[in-house]
Amino acid sequence: MTKTGDSSCPRVLIVEDDAGLCESLAAALRELSFEVETAPDGLQAVQKIKESVYDILLTDLRLPGLNGEEVLRQAKALYPDLIVMVSTGYGDLRNAVNMMKLGAADYIQKPFLKDELIVRIEKAIEERKWRWQSRAAREQTNGSEWGDLIGKGPAMARVKELAAGVGPMRTTVLIQGETGTGKELVARAIHHGSPRKDYPLVSVNCAAIPATLMEDEFFGHEKGAFTDAQQVRVGRFEQANRGTLFLDEIGTMPLDLQGKLLRVLQERECQRIGGTQTIRLDVRIIAATNTKLDERVQSGAFREDLYYRLNVFPIFLPSLRERREDIPLLAAHLLQKICAGEGLAQKQIAQEALKGLVAYEWPGNVRQLENALEMALILGAEREYLLPEDFPAICRRPASSESLPRVEIPEEGADFNLLVSRFEKALILEGLRRSDGKRSRAAVLLNMKRTTLLEKLKKLQAAAL
Ligand SMILES: Nc1ncnc2c1ncn2[C@@H]1O[C@H](COP(=O)(O)OP(=O)(O)OP(=O)(O)O)[C@@H](O)[C@H]1O
Ligand SMILES: [Mg+2]
Repeated sequence: MTKTGDSSCPRVLIVEDDAGLCESLAAALRELSFEVETAPDGLQAVQKIKESVYDILLTDLRLPGLNGEEVLRQAKALYPDLIVMVSTGYGDLRNAVNMMKLGAADYIQKPFLKDELIVRIEKAIEERKWRWQSRAAREQTNGSEWGDLIGKGPAMARVKELAAGVGPMRTTVLIQGETGTGKELVARAIHHGSPRKDYPLVSVNCAAIPATLMEDEFFGHEKGAFTDAQQVRVGRFEQANRGTLFLDEIGTMPLDLQGKLLRVLQERECQRIGGTQTIRLDVRIIAATNTKLDERVQSGAFREDLYYRLNVFPIFLPSLRERREDIPLLAAHLLQKICAGEGLAQKQIAQEALKGLVAYEWPGNVRQLENALEMALILGAEREYLLPEDFPAICRRPASSESLPRVEIPEEGADFNLLVSRFEKALILEGLRRSDGKRSRAAVLLNMKRTTLLEKLKKLQAAAL
């Protein structure tokens, strides 16, 4: 059975029909604090693999019952990340090569020294770690970065403190905050700050899965469990074993599944659909929601008992407008990230534009800021500094009475048409100055049609003659 203690000591399953060899290998590995289980034949090995999760499968090629190749096939179909090492007898080299093609990490020819086996196992574990890290790095460049949480203000400092404190434990965490406030980023930071960091972080967006498929997604199924079930499918819970399961937008989970989730959280075990085996789980749950979960409980859309199970360690992410002090730092960080990702030279944000960014309401929070910067980079083209006009939706002057230009009407009265045309002229000249004389840019800046601008320019030139 899976121990739910320290998730950093690797679990090994040795499949070997030579009982003496099997026991001496097991003893050697246990001495190195590996958790070891053994199986004397292929059938029992497959059974064990279905019941719980291992890091390493060390299997002999020739076995009674199912042979090593079949054990490898079935194991890899269930757990693609499982490290499989094959031990072979003399003359089995061609088979061993075949096993590597099927996904074995390494093979070792009998008789072998225990030390040699241990070195090879350690190397395979390192390789898998490296694979996971590069997978995480790829995710990072896909926009779901898990690096530093930016923000020096008191609100973010508190969030960081909470995330760092809860990281090392298995405690369930509930992250609440508006859309785009960084809930997923915090979940990743917690996972990466935990002893589970070398195991998978599996994310499920509850809002993106149709209710009818959700149970299958979470728990998987056995072959033949229903008409379309032609293959065994490992559910997300199993995939996350020894790691972390991130349940995003938990508030949208249908009520019947909430009941099933509650049972799994209480019992820490699950079964595949159509299966009879109970799978022990050592999974840390982090849930996130952008709806107020307590209000959903009040309205009967979310089970109260599940709410308490999840809300063991709550973290609230403040909206961006509640921590405007972080905007300059965040904007600079995000701009640098986008430029690096796009292979662009580093740019700066002009002070005037930054003022606009700090004053804005940001209903879409950090994600909206990121999008606005991306758009500004396009509008800013070759310029080294991003200007307010590169953020047209954000730095636009509000159409309120406060923003009207100051006017004065002298005692003797004013010439309305003359004043309006002077104001128009001043705007057009300033627009052209800011666009280095480029008329199309000036038209964009002034939010007017290019043809209108040209027409007005012509009139101005005619009047000057
Ligand atoms: N404090 C932060 N520092 C750096 N980047 C951040 C921060 N907060 C959010 N981001 C970035 O903003 C974007 C949105 O963050 P994330 O996806 O974590 O938000 P979310 O709260 O999960 O949103 P939703 O509720 O819409 O799923 C991501 O690209 C993330 O990297
Ligand atoms: Mg999210």
